[in-house]
Amino acid sequence: MTTDATTDLASVLDGARVLPVLTVPSPGSAGPLADALAAGGARCAEVTFRTPDAEQVLKTMAAHGGLAVGAGTVLTPEQAERAVAAGARFVVSPGFDEEVIAKCSELGVPVVPGIASPTELMRALRAGLDTVKLFPAEPLGGIPMLRALAAPFPQARFVPTGGIDAPRLSAYLAERAVLAVGGSWMATPAHLQRGEYEEIRRLTAEAVDRSTP
Ligand code: 3PG
Repeated sequence: MTTDATTDLASVLDGARVLPVLTVPSPGSAGPLADALAAGGARCAEVTFRTPDAEQVLKTMAAHGGLAVGAGTVLTPEQAERAVAAGARFVVSPGFDEEVIAKCSELGVPVVPGIASPTELMRALRAGLDTVKLFPAEPLGGIPMLRALAAPFPQARFVPTGGIDAPRLSAYLAERAVLAVGGSWMATPAHLQRGEYEEIRRLTAEAVDRSTP
């Protein structure tokens, strides 16, 4: 396993510090959603494999061009393969799975495993991955947990996700160890079901604004 550019999320995010996490109920939403996120200033997005049409959504959003689109909730090597075939530029998992990591390494796509403990973080570091998703960040203890976990591992970078919203964003981003913050608050399934693309644009712009020094 290597940590070169092909396995490096930071190179894909290219300075973007907010990662909208999307669960998209209908593939028809993908185009307008990509437009709304891009109009709000987002430069990346994570499409979760929690809906039957996730691959199609990923394909449409990746083709949009304005966003680096990755796949989330990737639980198996097969899903990782399908995600990359659909255009995923990175793969995120809620937990640490060696087979998913091995498949992503073989495919040359950055993979970000979820971790919730020092033991899991040590496994990720040993696998050559220094960027991990702290998940679920808020229920685990939020920023005090992040700081305590980061202290013995200065090389680790975190993408805290889970229970984070606009008011909590800036505090996470101020942490040295945080690469970017993920979350669904900018574009929820409820927003999408109601067709609230202007609200998605507004919430995205607010988050991007808070993440820009
Ligand atoms: C994820 O898959 O990353 C999370 O479900 C996002 O967490 P949130 O919905 O609490 O932001």
